[in-house]
Amino acid sequence: MRRPMEGAGGRDGMRPMDGDLLRDLDEIRARGLHRSLRVVERRDGPRLVIGGRALLSFCSNDYLGLADHPATSAAAREAVERFGWGSGASRLVSGTMRPHAALEEALASFKGTEAAVLFPTGYMTNLGVIAALAGPGDEVIADRLDHASIIDGCRLSGARLRVYPHGDVERLERVLAAARGARRRLIVTDTLFSMDGDLAPLREIVALARRHGAWVMADEAHATGVLGAAGRGGAELLGVEDGIDVSMGTLSKALGGSGGFVAGSAVLADYLRNRARPLIYTTAPPPASCAAALAAIGIVRREPGTRAALLGMADRLRRALGAIGLDTMGSGFQIVPVRTGDAGAAVRASAELLRRGILVPAIRPPTVPRGESRLRISVTAAHTDADVDLLAGALAELAAAGVLGREGGG
Ligand SMILES: Cc1ncc(COP(=O)(O)O)c(C=O)c1O
Repeated sequence: MRRPMEGAGGRDGMRPMDGDLLRDLDEIRARGLHRSLRVVERRDGPRLVIGGRALLSFCSNDYLGLADHPATSAAAREAVERFGWGSGASRLVSGTMRPHAALEEALASFKGTEAAVLFPTGYMTNLGVIAALAGPGDEVIADRLDHASIIDGCRLSGARLRVYPHGDVERLERVLAAARGARRRLIVTDTLFSMDGDLAPLREIVALARRHGAWVMADEAHATGVLGAAGRGGAELLGVEDGIDVSMGTLSKALGGSGGFVAGSAVLADYLRNRARPLIYTTAPPPASCAAALAAIGIVRREPGTRAALLGMADRLRRALGAIGLDTMGSGFQIVPVRTGDAGAAVRASAELLRRGILVPAIRPPTVPRGESRLRISVTAAHTDADVDLLAGALAELAAAGVLGREGGG
């Protein structure tokens, strides 16, 4: 930003709006919720250099280690050589290049659906799809712990949003009954929840949706590439893929890149290409990003052993933490939360780990409800058993020192 002109701002060269913003920022700070950015100077899998310090990261969603895998990087380089860096236009104008089309074909083939539609990010996928499928007079029914992009999509749609307690299918049934008069009813749920690491009761959700004539949209962001024998996600793992009307996924977690997609019927794809504003009114992703994602899907399909090893490593960590009495919140996959309850305890534990060279984020409100603060550990295929044991040892020390206490409310 340009520096404010002499006299344009008030005290210390501040602009008039800055005073207002500072008051809000002070309040965020006073609640212990202020956040700032860290700049990674170098990366080698989970080994990062930040501020000149070597750190072992357990924060990334790059679950299969594909973000800096030689095959994804090579595919991106090759696409830059052939197509250049930018796509230059939106998807419906001239921004759809061979890598975009090839990626959508590969996603549909991977997911076993008629079609797939690519979006620039997972966030935009949820915004675009929910707002395209539901509107005033419709009802969107969401799990209380659904990702922010789902909630934002519901708000944007103008449909009535009803929220049921996390995983509570009895309440979901009551909500469905209460929403009986709506034109369309769309149930939207994460499959693998990003902060709790547990799985939605998809079998029950699909059965209820069938009984009540509602549609089901599943957000497989954290499950794509990791869950299920073929890596297609939570619906594959639970054997309910046929019951999912809209299967949303991201290219930004286990596939190591950037982007989101929907897999479903050819009619759904055609509808979204005509109605989803975050697809229509934005520049198509760079072709190199699509080429890298295509390479990542190939690895997911060819190397099932990697996801099995990843889940085995996460179990090893969970067992070690359980043995020292830590609460891993009923998680079962590669996301391992450690409950502290209190936001201050989560922040202190994260700072203590950082002092030991280990990067684990403290997750606090508003990302999680008050009183449910935690450390969020994500294990990746690029970690070694020794890395996981190092983390478990550090957490054991913190637990013994009382740093991971559960009292308090923040
Ligand atoms: C469940 C869920 N859905 C959607 C998103 C958004 O995906 P992206 O980061 O690709 O925008 C995320 C991650 O941030 C997520 O956790």
